[in-house]
Amino acid sequence: MECELKDQIAIVTGGARGMGAAIGACLARAGSRVVLTDIDADTVKRTASQINDALGNEFAVAIAADVTNERQVEALIEETGHRLGAVTTLVNNAGLLFPTPVADISLGEWEKVVSVNLTGTFLCSRAAVPVMREQRFGRIVNMSSSAGRSVSTIGGAHYTAAKAGVLGLTRALAKELAADGILVNAVCPGLIDTQMVREICDEKAVAAYEGSFPLRRLGLPDEVAGVVRFLCNPESYITGASIDVNGGDLMI
Ligand SMILES: NC(=O)c1ccc[n+]([C@@H]2O[C@H](COP(=O)([O-])OP(=O)(O)OC[C@H]3O[C@@H](n4cnc5c(N)ncnc54)[C@H](O)[C@@H]3O)[C@@H](O)[C@H]2O)c1
Repeated sequence: MECELKDQIAIVTGGARGMGAAIGACLARAGSRVVLTDIDADTVKRTASQINDALGNEFAVAIAADVTNERQVEALIEETGHRLGAVTTLVNNAGLLFPTPVADISLGEWEKVVSVNLTGTFLCSRAAVPVMREQRFGRIVNMSSSAGRSVSTIGGAHYTAAKAGVLGLTRALAKELAADGILVNAVCPGLIDTQMVREICDEKAVAAYEGSFPLRRLGLPDEVAGVVRFLCNPESYITGASIDVNGGDLMI
């Protein structure tokens, strides 16, 4: 067993499926205890069990929570403390996307997208920071997107705006929290092969995107998870960075 994250207590939001599930498994393989949290209570429970079955231990637990709900987020940090110990690592991965053209985006849909992708990242970070500050140690990794660095391939204006906001929040937190030993970074995936993408793109659309990428394929959740794991390493001098994982689709 690789143990670079031994003694770490990680929370991964949106951990039921896709990249969140891959990140949870990857951190657990590296020795971290992991709370997978998601609004989808049944699936996140199953995902945590699968990780434990695969590793033959009890490194993963599931706690259902909505990242946009202030009280549920506070309770998540508290329950993590009771069940596993003080959180050291927060991966703000929960996200949501609609491909709606701007003229058709209702105020409600705008608010939903901003609230899950951006406000949820703020609420979870705000709740975790006092606990990390007490330990004078923390790692926060925020899931932005190529959308945040440029413009979304498949999502609407609200998604691009929210993911750009995540990058601004990442820089502000990195600057403010560095003195407390809390390092804050963002990951910017391009198109990754998850349900989020498959629910919007058919095979033909996927093939067309793949043909346009220098690496000629979609990314895999595990390939993003490895980068998150790298940023969670206790021995790191990286903060305020945004790391692209996009098969060469966006080079800036
Ligand atoms: N798949 C891609 O191509 C891609 C590219 C760039 C960035 N991203 C981002 O990566 C992250 C993960 O994406 P994915 O492709 O694995 O998506 P996914 O849709 O497969 O998984 C997202 C998870 O977030 C959960 N979630 C949604 N709203 C929530 C809420 N309010 N509270 C808690 N959990 C909630 C969902 O239930 C789901 O399990 C998202 O932030 C997404 O925007 C995805």
